[in-house]
Amino acid sequence: MFDKQNIIAIGCDHGGFEMKNYLLKTLTNQGFQWFDFGTFSSESVDYPDIIHPLAKAVSDGKYQFGIILCGSGNGVQMVANKYTNVRAALCWDTEQTELTRKHNNANVLSLPGRFIPFERAEEMVKLFLNTEFEGGRHALRVDKISKTL
Ligand code: RB5
Repeated sequence: MFDKQNIIAIGCDHGGFEMKNYLLKTLTNQGFQWFDFGTFSSESVDYPDIIHPLAKAVSDGKYQFGIILCGSGNGVQMVANKYTNVRAALCWDTEQTELTRKHNNANVLSLPGRFIPFERAEEMVKLFLNTEFEGGRHALRVDKISKTL
């Protein structure tokens, strides 16, 4: 569960720009603090340029949670998951979002900015920030994620 004292890292490419702006307003209204890694316009950019710095900062423990967006949510998630301590989950609905917190202890939520309604994304972000990791057998599995062969 997200500690409201902390700052949320958020970043997107042009495909997630409009949804990011919507989410920043809703997060501010709910009293959350955030740091925006960009992009800052709808002009085309390369999503790795935005997401590498964000994911490194999450992996280094500078941010507890991150929210990343591109058109599909795929590209940004792929970049973020290159970092050892990042567990980025691409979610399309509230049920997936709740499950990835409970079972995977996801610390980065990846959103498909061009494929789901903004209001749903808002609900998903609320759930992501407020759902506890269940631990137990799931903790054993999560520990194995970074142990590549
Ligand atoms: C940009 O057109 C689009 O490819 C990007 O936002 C993202 O969906 C990539 O995975």
